Amino acid sequence: MTDHYAVFGNPIAHSRSPRIHAMFAAQTGQALDYEARLVPRDGFAGALRDFIVQGGRGANVTVPFKLEAHALSTQLTPRAQAAGAVNTLRFDGSNILGDNTDGVGLVRDLMQNHYCKLKARRVLLIGAGGAARGVWQPLLDESPALLVVANRTLHKAQALVDEAGSSTRHIEAASLDTLAGRAFDVIINATSTGLNDTDTSPFGGVSPAPTGEFFYEMMYGRETAFMHQAHASGARVSDGLGMLVEQAAEAFYLWRGVRPDTAPVLAAIRAELNDQH
Ligand code: ATR
Repeated sequence: MTDHYAVFGNPIAHSRSPRIHAMFAAQTGQALDYEARLVPRDGFAGALRDFIVQGGRGANVTVPFKLEAHALSTQLTPRAQAAGAVNTLRFDGSNILGDNTDGVGLVRDLMQNHYCKLKARRVLLIGAGGAARGVWQPLLDESPALLVVANRTLHKAQALVDEAGSSTRHIEAASLDTLAGRAFDVIINATSTGLNDTDTSPFGGVSPAPTGEFFYEMMYGRETAFMHQAHASGARVSDGLGMLVEQAAEAFYLWRGVRPDTAPVLAAIRAELNDQH
């Protein structure tokens, strides 16, 4: 019996998820297949229903359907509730469980793959869109001394911080232009700046740019302006490929109850990316 899984998105052609899950399945001896499904922008609910009827057991969800996946879930994990977005679904009978593995993926990549500590450190998270929403709670769970959420549009960062509630004094909102000269241990770029061909850094208008020991870009596939600027400052720098593999491993665990070894898979995907360049 082969169980069926898929990733839904638009665009989806360049998704690495089928390759990653095929490697996880081979490594752990799990009988499953995993495909990429391109879904029309107004067709997510129907595509999901069809997949469940066809016997689908679970799915990953990527841009632009993470909010809709959240709305269609009949049950949410606490971390999906905190994120307000879902990237992983599991189908159990008529139940649709919505989870969000992005934040734990980021935290594992930082701590286990890069030996980057978060406890008692000063962490800067740049951005207040979907990518930042998916990760703030798991970052805060690691007890940083301070988590600053900085955004070009301050009120969006403030709204995110307000959701953290009064339970913690360790999170604060800031606008990008108030970051000049501030020092952090870890700086994470969760803005969409790296997506643009013109490739601007979120620190474009911030002078001097904040300093950090370790800079993390959530995008992968090429060196963004954010990474370039960080390299030039002499800091340690990573792209987001490890986060992609780690969030996938957490989804695989939710579906199969087995935790794959991510290191060889990350190395293989990295090599494949390098071959393309
Ligand atoms: P995503 O789901 O990738 O987070 P999004 O929800 O559209 O996408 O959010 C994009 C984020 O990138 C926002 O935080 C946005 O800042 P604003 O809220 O001020 O729009 C940020 N962003 C996009 N382009 C930027 C730029 N050139 N400089 C700084 N921040 C930028």
